[in-house]
Amino acid sequence: MRALILEDESSLREILSIILSEFNYEIDEAGTLQEGIEKLEENDYDLALVDLRLPDGSGMELVRRLKREKPETEVIIITAFASTETVKEAFELGVYDYVEKPFKLEDLKLILRNVTDKIELKKRPVETEIPEIVGRSKPIEKLKETIRKVAPYDVNVLILGESGSGKELVAKAIHHLSPRKNRPFVAINCAALPPELLESELFGYRKGAFTGAVSDKKGLIEKANGGTLFLDEIGDMPLPLQAKLLRFLETRKFIPLGSTEEREVDVRVVAATNRNLKEEIKKGRFREDLYYRLATIVIEVPPLRERKEDIPLLVEFFAREFSKKYGKEIKRISKGFIDYLMGLPLEGNVRELRNIVEREVILTEDGILGSGYSAEKKHDECDVKIPEEGVNLKEILAEVEKRYLQKALEVAGGKKTKAAELLGLTLREFRYRWSKYSPEKGEQEN
Ligand SMILES: Nc1ncnc2c1ncn2[C@@H]1O[C@H](COP(=O)(O)OP(=O)(O)OP(=O)(O)O)[C@@H](O)[C@H]1O
Ligand SMILES: [Mg+2]
Repeated sequence: MRALILEDESSLREILSIILSEFNYEIDEAGTLQEGIEKLEENDYDLALVDLRLPDGSGMELVRRLKREKPETEVIIITAFASTETVKEAFELGVYDYVEKPFKLEDLKLILRNVTDKIELKKRPVETEIPEIVGRSKPIEKLKETIRKVAPYDVNVLILGESGSGKELVAKAIHHLSPRKNRPFVAINCAALPPELLESELFGYRKGAFTGAVSDKKGLIEKANGGTLFLDEIGDMPLPLQAKLLRFLETRKFIPLGSTEEREVDVRVVAATNRNLKEEIKKGRFREDLYYRLATIVIEVPPLRERKEDIPLLVEFFAREFSKKYGKEIKRISKGFIDYLMGLPLEGNVRELRNIVEREVILTEDGILGSGYSAEKKHDECDVKIPEEGVNLKEILAEVEKRYLQKALEVAGGKKTKAAELLGLTLREFRYRWSKYSPEKGEQEN
């Protein structure tokens, strides 16, 4: 941040300069209107402190100029001689504040604190990017937009989505974009622990609450105080514990096991599951009232197969991650590999994709990721070798031709018109070529 001080009294200029530097400004000083105007022409300022009565004119001239040419600059007028008209004009021009000499140091500091907050706020880039969630497909853009919208508010969020689709990533993004971002993010997997352990982990216990409770233990709910509690696999939470959780969600109060003392915490709750909770409710395995408590906002994470266009970006992202982790250079990613991945059902979603890329990074020997999947490698890379005894080009070409014709027919489901189209041939040309390799006669045309 940069500030200009325009003040003809050098002792006051010095005081202002000292005070301003406490607020982390780079400071330029001017003692006359002329000097001030010169400084304005040379630099952009976030803030200007302006005295009105100057040896060579009125500071208002500089203020007018500033507000006309660089309206972003905040202006504070510091003066002993101002008519009401001048003050009126100053405010109409949009100066931030007006301080009368002599002023109290605290008063000026307060004003400077406020204006600096305003300037910093203007400068801060709007944090709307969510770089950790990779993808540019429509469904992902929509997902990110929802995250941005709900993150700032203390509402409970329920994240639904298939296994490996990125639910935990979404939960973390919500936390990072919320005012709680510098407080803890505490995750617990409700499916990974037996019921009793889950309860004591969540709510904590007093020494002697049960055999083995040799000392007090803080629950995760308490550890998350001020931050976000992420209840993963909430659909797997046993019913009795659901009741206890519901009570907590309604009151934000709970009693650790073996204790009589009620505790109160301030946590935001984000839950996730890959189960169909509506189904679970019907089957009596999930409390409907708890569902509505948790599901103030529901975010659905789309499965990877519905956003396959994100695959190349994700592969690149993971390739970089694992190349760094394993210290293996990846020069490029084979196109055949991407094609192969795009063709997979990817039931395991992003996690499955990530695992495949990890394996390929480890296995690669030529620095080309997935070179083994490169179906088109032979001509793509023109890796032609001619042995000493020579080759029979006609036979090779015939073999290549036959394979392409066969493949095209296969892809076209046996339809020759379609197969011909795939190879850039007319039907006649296709039939002629195919007849060389197919002994069949009198087939029906299609
Ligand atoms: N859009 C994405 N960009 C980058 N990485 C992603 C993305 N989605 C998921 N991942 C990564 O894929 C892996 C699985 O994601 P995550 O653990 O969030 O899935 P999940 O939905 O919680 O799965 P589960 O239901 O099995 O718990 C993680 O390593 C995560 O970092
Ligand atoms: Mg998860």
